[in-house]
Amino acid sequence: MNQSSLWQWRPTSRNTAVTTVIFFLLLFVGLSVFMGWFDVSIFYSGFSLQQQILSNHRIEHPLKCGNQTEITCPMSNYPNTTYNVTNPVNSSGTMCPSYFRWIHEDLRPWKETGITKDMVELARKTASFRLVIVNGTAYLQKYMWVFETRDKFSWWGIVQLLRWYPGRLPDLDMMFECGDLPLIPSRNFQGPDARPPPLFRYCSNEESLDIVFPDWSFWGWEFMEESLVTSPSNSIPCTLPPPYNATEMREFLDSKANATRKVEMLEKEYWDHIKKKQ
Ligand SMILES: *[C@@H]1O[C@H](CO)[C@@H](O)[C@H](O)[C@H]1NC(C)=O
Ligand SMILES: *[C@@H]1O[C@H](CO)[C@@H](O)[C@H](O)[C@H]1NC(C)=O
Ligand SMILES: *[C@@H]1O[C@H](CO)[C@@H](O)[C@H](O)[C@H]1NC(C)=O
Ligand SMILES: *[C@@H]1O[C@H](CO)[C@@H](O)[C@H](O)[C@H]1NC(C)=O
Ligand SMILES: *[C@@H]1O[C@H](CO)[C@@H](O)[C@H](O)[C@H]1NC(C)=O
Ligand SMILES: *[C@@H]1O[C@H](CO)[C@@H](O)[C@H](O)[C@H]1NC(C)=O
Ligand SMILES: *[C@@H]1O[C@H](CO)[C@@H](O)[C@H](O)[C@H]1NC(C)=O
Repeated sequence: MNQSSLWQWRPTSRNTAVTTVIFFLLLFVGLSVFMGWFDVSIFYSGFSLQQQILSNHRIEHPLKCGNQTEITCPMSNYPNTTYNVTNPVNSSGTMCPSYFRWIHEDLRPWKETGITKDMVELARKTASFRLVIVNGTAYLQKYMWVFETRDKFSWWGIVQLLRWYPGRLPDLDMMFECGDLPLIPSRNFQGPDARPPPLFRYCSNEESLDIVFPDWSFWGWEFMEESLVTSPSNSIPCTLPPPYNATEMREFLDSKANATRKVEMLEKEYWDHIKKKQ
């Protein structure tokens, strides 16, 4: 290598090094925010542009449910429209969308044994919060900090449900986790004495027993306004469709496998095309 090329090489290398450091710094910051290692909301306070945007179009969504540890959603924050519980006017009688059928599959592990209180308690280890509904009042116990305040959006959904169907929600006691990845591997809970913990979350898969609950974003962003319940429903909810029978299940899995194959084929075609170009 001669003098001049060495001279030229050095600053370029330094620039590359600086760029690389900045790149990894940004990557690290991005990853930290994504993983929830630090709270980005500290940057929001005093950020006047955001406040300006908010004040131009400010809609309050009160979720007055006590403090962060022991939470009760009081009746005073409840719509007071009168309606007849025992005689819903509009019995819509419509069938719920077919994805509702998966709840039968999600709950199958407990079909024979039922769910006992100690199975629920077992899910406490990983749960973000516990929701108890007694006599139409929701009680929440928060166990851990939750990324993106997903927990609050899910509570919002539950409060909306209570408002939509006052007096018609059954008493319940459920554990909920707000992360992305399933936590209850089915291989750890096989056989008649398996006693898997019932844990609700936004995602599950073939290898897991986590029970799927609507994603926090159903009640987030623009849907929050659309889903704001201002008076109770006077019609009964849609009817839960029956479980898939063996034939229907096979057909569903077949069409899923077909779709997967198709996507893989398109992917392969794309990469073959790119390779041919080079
Ligand atoms: C939260 O509310 C519960 C029940 O009202 C109360 O017992 C508890 O002391 C409160 N905790 C805090 C930190 O305010
Ligand atoms: C519902 O509550 C509002 C505000 O608290 C009150 O003005 C209204 O009279 C109530 N309506 C009924 C039917 O109780
Ligand atoms: C509510 O519905 C029940 C059953 O149809 C009926 O007996 C009752 O009179 C209704 N109450 C009111 C206030 O309309
Ligand atoms: C019953 O449902 C129909 C159609 O959805 C609606 O137009 C009507 O206002 C409803 N009636 C009552 C009393 O809610
Ligand atoms: C449930 O609520 C109703 C109406 O507010 C009340 O009459 C009843 O006593 C409550 N039951 C329990 C077990 O708290
Ligand atoms: C499964 O369900 C389909 C559609 O409802 C029906 O046509 C079929 O006879 C059922 N098969 C069995 C084995 O029950
Ligand atoms: C899946 O693909 C196979 C072969 O391409 C086809 O025979 C079958 O009908 C498809 N199944 C579904 C459910 O689409």
